[in-house]
Amino acid sequence: MGEATLATDLAPDKELKKLEAKAFRKKTPEVIPEGAPWNEIEEGFLKRRSVRKYKRKQVPEHYIKRILEVGRFAASQGNCQPWKFIVVRDKDMIDEMERYVLEQMQLMVSMSPEQAAASIHPVPYGLLTGSPEGAGIKVFHGAPTLIFPLMDTRGIGHPEIDLGIVGTNIIMAACSLGLGTCWVGFAETLNAGDWPKRLGVEEPYALIEAIAIGYEVGHAQSNYVQRETHATTWFEGGKQRTMY
Ligand SMILES: Cc1cc2nc3c(=O)[nH]c(=O)nc-3n(C[C@H](O)[C@H](O)[C@H](O)COP(=O)(O)O)c2cc1C
Repeated sequence: MGEATLATDLAPDKELKKLEAKAFRKKTPEVIPEGAPWNEIEEGFLKRRSVRKYKRKQVPEHYIKRILEVGRFAASQGNCQPWKFIVVRDKDMIDEMERYVLEQMQLMVSMSPEQAAASIHPVPYGLLTGSPEGAGIKVFHGAPTLIFPLMDTRGIGHPEIDLGIVGTNIIMAACSLGLGTCWVGFAETLNAGDWPKRLGVEEPYALIEAIAIGYEVGHAQSNYVQRETHATTWFEGGKQRTMY
């Protein structure tokens, strides 16, 4: 396999064609009873947590290729695939980005609350800047690999949604390989200074997120992260119900 190719040896295009052919012969799956244990895929989604501390050990390069391959197969509106990826695995560069984003955060925190409310999305920046050095939450959490899924702003409809789906594919593929991940919205700050040039972000692409990837320190799965139960409006058989 040449340097430039990302495709894995699994050759998913061929594999998928075989699966497609099989699908015609496939029977409707059996219904599992209500209350049956979660299956492997459901459990993977339920147990995924944001990992905010990583080992220094780098992730094998072929893992990242594999993860990007799963990303590439994400759904997108009109199959317009409005993305491309930047991978950063250079520790000095990540440290530099970390310092830059923190500095920008500090500038934002020094704004008046009115200025801040008008210009930034409501994130507790104090978390990043208020704690003693080394003790606070970090921007990239010490992850050895960052994937920046860039958004092609010409995407059909709402390309942000497609980017969210790519990100989910990437994150779940990484989880399945035993890696920790975290979305990093603060990475958007890298749209300033000389970062777009250095990273090669050019119109019509926009840097909107980063995904931190690495081997986890600790066990983020034990983090209790509250989820709300939203009422679901349900129409069936001519009736409307509210379900939880
Ligand atoms: C688009 C997006 C941006 C996020 N940005 C950050 C971030 O900059 N820093 C961070 O530590 N977590 C970030 N998160 C992680 C969320 O805080 C986390 O998903 C949420 O608290 C739920 O926790 P869980 O992922 O462990 O289930 C982000 C999540 C999403 C979806």
